[in-house]
Amino acid sequence: MKGIILAGGSGTRLRPLTKVTSKQLLPVYDQPMIFYPLKTLLDGGIKDILIIVAPDHAGDFLKLLGSGKDFGCKFTYEIQDNPGGIAQAFMVGQNFIGNDNVTLILGDNIYEDTFQDAITSFKSGGRIFIKDVKDPQRFGIVEFDENNQVISIEEKPKAAKSKYAVTGMYIYDNTVIKKVKHLKPSDRGELEITDLNNLYLKEKTLDIAFVNGKWFDTGTFESLHDAIVFIRDKKLAKKK
Ligand code: G1P
Repeated sequence: MKGIILAGGSGTRLRPLTKVTSKQLLPVYDQPMIFYPLKTLLDGGIKDILIIVAPDHAGDFLKLLGSGKDFGCKFTYEIQDNPGGIAQAFMVGQNFIGNDNVTLILGDNIYEDTFQDAITSFKSGGRIFIKDVKDPQRFGIVEFDENNQVISIEEKPKAAKSKYAVTGMYIYDNTVIKKVKHLKPSDRGELEITDLNNLYLKEKTLDIAFVNGKWFDTGTFESLHDAIVFIRDKKLAKKK
């Protein structure tokens, strides 16, 4: 199993915080944001990790993370020249993935849960992780039928058909490389992870698991603030 952390994008929703640095380098209490998704991969036993960054701050990521030696893993770096969507990570990372399976985590997603079992038990198809949210219009949202089977996933729906969001960690088998090549850019000009998940869903090989603990997509001021307060409280409680 290989790992990818996608830390591209321009973080426009967090301006002016992201004017001179990357969103994924911003502090979340006592650590840079990217340390949290990195820990999620490391805790899942993944030791071979590709970091995909935007061109502007690539050097800062290298300075912060280095070869991986300090973290007990190996990092590879790739530049995403234009923010072309989450699914584009599998094009950029094609050589890195080789013939392996891959877990992708977004560089601004913070999970309380650990996913060791979900990662080590993975064999084939796709596996996604959903969580109930109060603001479904911000996310990919799953639609269930009357037997609680997921029938489709909709990206940022205006009228959401459930409150269950697809969170920012995805496990795929090697067919992902072939599948992304079939995707067409959406109206916002991106290769959508939701379209990729719908391909696996259509093949009936998409496994859907629930996130039990807290989860934050820290791409807005509110969610970034909530994440910082949560991490702070957790760390202070541990010290007591
Ligand atoms: C992206 C995905 C969305 C997913 C979310 C999780 O949203 O497009 O399906 O629910 O990440 O963080 P974006 O980061 O583009 O707002």
